[in-house]
Amino acid sequence: MTEYALEVENLRKTFGDHVAVDDVSLTLRPGGSLAIVGESGSGKTTTARMLVGLERPDSGRIRVAGRDRSGAARGRATRLARAREIQMVFQDPYLSLDPRVTVAACVEEPLRLHFAMTSAERRARRDELLARVGLGEREADALPRRLSGGQRQRVAIARALATEPKVLILDEATAALDVSIQAQILDLLAEIRRDTGVAYVFVTHNLALVRHVADDVLVLYRGRVAESGPARDVLAAPEHPYTRLLLHSLPHRGWDPARIAADRRALATATRERPPAPTSEKRSVTS
Ligand SMILES: Nc1ncnc2c1ncn2[C@@H]1O[C@H](COP(=O)(O)OP(=O)(O)O)[C@@H](O)[C@H]1O
Ligand SMILES: [Mg+2]
Repeated sequence: MTEYALEVENLRKTFGDHVAVDDVSLTLRPGGSLAIVGESGSGKTTTARMLVGLERPDSGRIRVAGRDRSGAARGRATRLARAREIQMVFQDPYLSLDPRVTVAACVEEPLRLHFAMTSAERRARRDELLARVGLGEREADALPRRLSGGQRQRVAIARALATEPKVLILDEATAALDVSIQAQILDLLAEIRRDTGVAYVFVTHNLALVRHVADDVLVLYRGRVAESGPARDVLAAPEHPYTRLLLHSLPHRGWDPARIAADRRALATATRERPPAPTSEKRSVTS
């Protein structure tokens, strides 16, 4: 039996009478990378927040490293243990860091919370984490406002790695960055995954990123899984009309925005009454 880093069954979340996430299942093997793709409003962030425990699912199961965490965590020790195993990097590096806390203190905070270390050990580990993301002493002493967007996102990554998580959830983590900076951060993330064996859930609205960051992909449409499977296969031969639409929407030679907008409306009309059924020949989604 494989022990997955992350195993999710039939997650569902409603807000009032709005179903944000419905029947989402996925698996992620240790050191694997799964992209969750979909347009704005498709339920990506809600899914991500349930995975890290920021949102309680209405129903469904979440197992991290084989341990069920569907129920509420009882007690501080359980909460901390859960938090150690799965960490999240948010989209906006300008909002996710406390403006009053230096980079050094920001990275030390989770170390203090999760590990019994002497202050010398903590400083050494902090420097190691900062070096891991390409930051040095100069940045360590700085407040976030002195850093660029890319540097801030590096700090957020270092902080998330501090607890040595099995899984890192990246919710549009490069979406706010310039394209060239985005490429650097993606490259760094790939290197970190190779070196540490951490697994990624890479949440993005941008299907163009998927082939660079993920082994597997899960396409969300209106809170449901439209299609999932190895990224290579899904990108080469998408089975669901929504995936095809997302692919055609990427700027390319002969790109026709008016045609794409019309297709988008047609798909919305066709699926208004009932959510999309999963494609008939469902590919196995094991990562
Ligand atoms: N806290 C909330 N309260 C009410 N509705 C919400 C809340 N969070 C998300 N939603 C709704 O759930 C749907 C999915 O949102 P979200 O998960 O943020 O999508 P995505 O990240 O794919 O853009 C949207 O229709 C959104 O408006
Ligand atoms: Mg989102």
